[in-house]
Amino acid sequence: MKADIGLIGLAVMGENLVLNMESKGFTVAVYNRTVDKVDKFINGRGQGKKFIGAHSIEELVASLERPRKVMMLVKAGQPVDSFIDQIIPHLEEGDIIIDGGNSHYPDTIRRTQYVESKGLLYIGTGVSGGEEGALLGPSMMPGGSNEAWPHVKDIFQAVAAKVEDGTPCCDWVGENGAGHFVKMVHNGIEYGDMQIISEAYFLMKNLLGMSHAEMHETFKEWNEGELDSYLIEITRDILGFVDEDGAPLVEKILDTAGQKGTGKWTGISALDLGIPLTLIGESVFARCLSAQKDIRVEASKAITGPQPEFKGDKAAFIEDLRKALLASKIVSYAQGYNLMQEAAKEYNWNLNYGGIALMWRGGCIIRSVFLGKIKEAFDNNPTLMNLLLDPYFKEKVEDAQQSWRNVVATAMMNGIAVPCFASALTYFDGFRSEQLPANMLQAQRDYFGAHTYERVDKPRGEFFHTNWTGRGGDTASSTYNV
Ligand code: 6PG
Repeated sequence: MKADIGLIGLAVMGENLVLNMESKGFTVAVYNRTVDKVDKFINGRGQGKKFIGAHSIEELVASLERPRKVMMLVKAGQPVDSFIDQIIPHLEEGDIIIDGGNSHYPDTIRRTQYVESKGLLYIGTGVSGGEEGALLGPSMMPGGSNEAWPHVKDIFQAVAAKVEDGTPCCDWVGENGAGHFVKMVHNGIEYGDMQIISEAYFLMKNLLGMSHAEMHETFKEWNEGELDSYLIEITRDILGFVDEDGAPLVEKILDTAGQKGTGKWTGISALDLGIPLTLIGESVFARCLSAQKDIRVEASKAITGPQPEFKGDKAAFIEDLRKALLASKIVSYAQGYNLMQEAAKEYNWNLNYGGIALMWRGGCIIRSVFLGKIKEAFDNNPTLMNLLLDPYFKEKVEDAQQSWRNVVATAMMNGIAVPCFASALTYFDGFRSEQLPANMLQAQRDYFGAHTYERVDKPRGEFFHTNWTGRGGDTASSTYNV
């Protein structure tokens, strides 16, 4: 018997994903660089199931049905390139190499081209949902060689999570790096969602003086309404989790955040494409500041600020917090979608924005009821320029606006950092402003560097230079923009 698909990399994600595939009726061949892992798996969790254990790449490839599908779930970066080079000599025209790790999309663009140049097909797919998702139904975001999709569609859609009506959280995203780009934005949004939830928790604890039981209850209630999502749900559970001594475990965890780089990539890509992705950017920097623990400890002793003291209606402020979280989340998704729209132009991807919301609706870390509303927004208007202009989200943000301002202002007056709540609000105010102070910027640029400006009383595209000091010449610099 031949296998439907082969997998390289029996770490946490790989092991769970192949168990998922097998449970849906597929035969899977498995290989791992440290070969005893293969036998351990075959004699352990894989026992009595439709797995073929391979002890070399050659053996793995030989056990596959044609067109062969070889999926790698290995560490992003160099290991992916190295496996590609090891697999290629054993494959034949039309066979498919799949990378299911968190690869950087420019690498996937390059690898698609490379693998296609060898007469083979390539897929780079985002897989989200952690260990449990991989086993029970992840969200999958595949992109790469278009001709490869029909060959893997059945397997991918069978293992993926499903929304209420049975639609799989997996569809073809687009050419070359599109799948990994969308997964990267997913991760950036994940960073932002996690940070705004953490800011809400911090205000509850340090400003309102809420107990862990009270915070647990609040997140439980939030999870029953429009904030219903996986990340709110796990926050509820984390707040209810006690250590062996009965004290909340979360307070024993050092406040220095780690990161594997996908949030940073999202921020870099936004800077490259000129998109104001402020909330995600701040969420990455918030992790960076948290990591500077030693200097923060020193600074906390050296620099004074206000002593947090809450005066007012606690219950009303908790509702303000909920609305601040919702409004900030809307801004974050508006910015994330904006980034995808710009990338689609830059890389010639034909992205289906409603379809992406549906892929994220279940299975992944950012899964939420909210994503259903984003799907509806793009169904109603496939060319929607900014989520904040969709009637549903516009109304939600307008309704939340006063609460959001109250939360940010109160946090500022009490000296509590809320980088994502605040930057989202500032973006919102900038976005809804016909006028921004960039006229002053342009004047400054022209003053010191003859960079020229456009005028409000002349057509767009005409550039002017002024000799501001009387000492400069009339020569203007070129008007190129990056
Ligand atoms: C997912 C996660 C997953 C991983 C992140 C963690 O979608 O299942 O996003 O990909 O947990 O890479 O990222 P950090 O280590 O950067 O927080």
